[in-house]
Amino acid sequence: MRSTSSFLIVANRLPVDRVGEKEWRRSPGGLVTAIAPVMQRRDGAWLGWTGAAGEELKPFEDDGMHLIPVPLSEREVELYYEGFSNATLWPLYHDVVAAPVYSRVLWDAYRAVNERFARAAAEAAAPGAVVWVQDYQLQLVPAILRRLRPDLKIGFFLHIPFPPVELFCQLPWRKEILEGLLGADLVGFQRPGGASNFVRLCRRLLGLQNSRNEIQVDGRAVRAEAFPISVDFGELDQLARDQRIQLRAKEIRAELGDPEHLLLGVDRLDYTKGIGQRLKAFGELLADGSVKPGEAAFVQVATPTRERVAEYVKLRGDIELRVGRINGEHGMLGRQPISYLHQSYRRDELAALYCAADVMVVTPLRDGMNLVAKEYVSCRHDLRGALVLSEFAGAADELRQAFLVNPYDIAGMKRAMLAAMRATPHELARRMRSLRRRVAGHDVDRWAGDFLSALESPASNPRSG
Ligand code: ADP
Ligand code: G6P
Repeated sequence: MRSTSSFLIVANRLPVDRVGEKEWRRSPGGLVTAIAPVMQRRDGAWLGWTGAAGEELKPFEDDGMHLIPVPLSEREVELYYEGFSNATLWPLYHDVVAAPVYSRVLWDAYRAVNERFARAAAEAAAPGAVVWVQDYQLQLVPAILRRLRPDLKIGFFLHIPFPPVELFCQLPWRKEILEGLLGADLVGFQRPGGASNFVRLCRRLLGLQNSRNEIQVDGRAVRAEAFPISVDFGELDQLARDQRIQLRAKEIRAELGDPEHLLLGVDRLDYTKGIGQRLKAFGELLADGSVKPGEAAFVQVATPTRERVAEYVKLRGDIELRVGRINGEHGMLGRQPISYLHQSYRRDELAALYCAADVMVVTPLRDGMNLVAKEYVSCRHDLRGALVLSEFAGAADELRQAFLVNPYDIAGMKRAMLAAMRATPHELARRMRSLRRRVAGHDVDRWAGDFLSALESPASNPRSG
């Protein structure tokens, strides 16, 4: 077994979650979807939490990756993960679509756990190693790690939006978070707006000088730049061409009664995803007769996530009530307009769903990127299928040929869903060709390659120039 690594990913979660005694499955969310294939193609180690409280495990290999577990106690899960990460930072960074909780107890736990991750990374990294820290749960790690190991190249990537100045300034620990991130040589964001928010905040709150996207701090230059994340286009394209997936897609449509239009939503059950808004729009289309019962079916797959955080408990109740109402009002014996699945799906079943769906409905109120939109496009080599996409998802910057919507505008969403259902095959093919070209040319390997070469380039660190 190796002792140290020259390439290290540090993320809150390992790419696998424990199910039962000896079994592991892929953990949920876009971060893991994106980084796992990158890691499988590189020789390095991944440091993170197993998803279970109080578990102390030795490093192990899984799915071609070297994994180093970092333990979290029951109380740390509650205060650091469910608390500061997902009840404070997550809503604050997503336009305050839910009210963030500001509590010193949560902050103390966040600091302590960040310190533990940094120490574990300092132990696992070989001299001069590249350490790539991921996401909002670990924003203090870069500065702590630099203090412990000034020899390392440290990159940080934020998978979620970085908020505008007015919102970020609510955070009582705003300076500490900025100082934490500034420990990195390169701080990556999904969109250029996130990078410029960060630079502006460093100037305003810390009084630091910058020239464009380079911030001067303690005689170092820290670069802030956008690197829009993506999916493994090649793998998904190939998977979707597989006969078994195509057969399964046909089967799914048949099971749903071969509707003329199959609409699909695939998300973690998160209040940022606009699931309620899209179901409301669909319900109104049925209610006002624009869509006849039996003509269209909506499948909503919603992965369970952060189930003990209050806002998520409330969301689940709201969505299930809405689904029940619409199905109650517009369903027939043995046939419901909405199939709601509060479950996690395997990748091949998801691919079959993508291939089966005529309209993919992705309507977050705010989203760093949204990989589901890019996965759908990657699976549609047949050039059929329409993507309805929120303009508030990072993906909307690139996927301009989607049917773009404002998820707060229910009438606008109804129009977009109808337009997507009624578009001619010629129009769908024109749009899909352009969407696929974009994702194929900007896949996850290109994202990782761009980030890592910027991290290695002398411009990001004048000491090495
Ligand atoms: P987020 O990172 O906020 O969850 P993304 O859309 O960027 O949102 O990424 C979600 C990832 O999780 C995608 O790779 C998607 O395929 C996967 N996913 C979403 N819902 C499910 C589900 N029900 N079962 C399995 N995987 C899912
Ligand atoms: C988003 C976040 C990730 C997180 C994932 C799943 O993609 O950006 O950091 O891992 O959601 O959420 P969870 O809380 O289950 O790790």
